Amino acid sequence: DDPITRPIGPDSVPAVIAHRGYSGVAPENTLAAVEAGMRTGAEYIEIDVHSSTDGVPIVLHDSTLDRTTDGTGALRDVTADYVSGLDAGSWFSAAFAGQPVPTLADVLDLMKGRAPELLLEIKGPETYDEMVTTIDVIRERDQLDQVILQSFDEQVLRDAREIEPDLRLALLRSTIDSDPAAVARDFDVVSYNPSWARLQDRPEAIAELHDAGIAVMPYTVNDPDQWEILRDLGVDGVITDHPGRLVGWNARH
Ligand code: G3P
Ligand code: CA
Repeated sequence: DDPITRPIGPDSVPAVIAHRGYSGVAPENTLAAVEAGMRTGAEYIEIDVHSSTDGVPIVLHDSTLDRTTDGTGALRDVTADYVSGLDAGSWFSAAFAGQPVPTLADVLDLMKGRAPELLLEIKGPETYDEMVTTIDVIRERDQLDQVILQSFDEQVLRDAREIEPDLRLALLRSTIDSDPAAVARDFDVVSYNPSWARLQDRPEAIAELHDAGIAVMPYTVNDPDQWEILRDLGVDGVITDHPGRLVGWNARH
């Protein structure tokens, strides 16, 4: 079976991947953003996760609370109970006041039985025990098939593969490796997810990865001119803050 649940390669329209949920219209990494991404028809919802001091996987982009919540300091220094009382919506707009900071469990519960897949970024570094806890949250809900775990952190991917052989993985890269297919095979990933700008510098990487059966899903692309370039290059998915616009653009082009 193809580990990516849609065909890969140049003949398919790139999948729409809602970055931090539908972060163009709702506060990033909240349930409101995840729900908006699902309703717009995105095929994947991307979120970011790190562990709190008591080892609960929490959905937040930054390592600190300051930018996107009314809390302060490092997530690693506070408990999940403390985080549960924070407001992750007011910074974005008053209409989202009181949106909580979700746990990974909250997002999985919201997505269970629904169509999109979860592109779960683990920011790292995480301890091995934290990775076990995170993957257990997915297993307990019987949602391994709905998740692709991605990371820039190589140890996160190594640990995830050891903990759960059936979990699909993706490698995030800010530069393109000289032999990306070899690197992707080494990490046993189903997708290689690079910076879109670096990918445009070395577009042959896409065919090299496809020849190895590995998908390519670059981040983070909001400009239709770039969507067109990437679509013509044959990427398999596009990570965007504006999944609604990309769904419409795909339908028109
Ligand atoms: O999905 C990849 C992309 O989200 C990586 O960048 O900083 O938005 O997590 P960042
Ligand atoms: Ca991310």
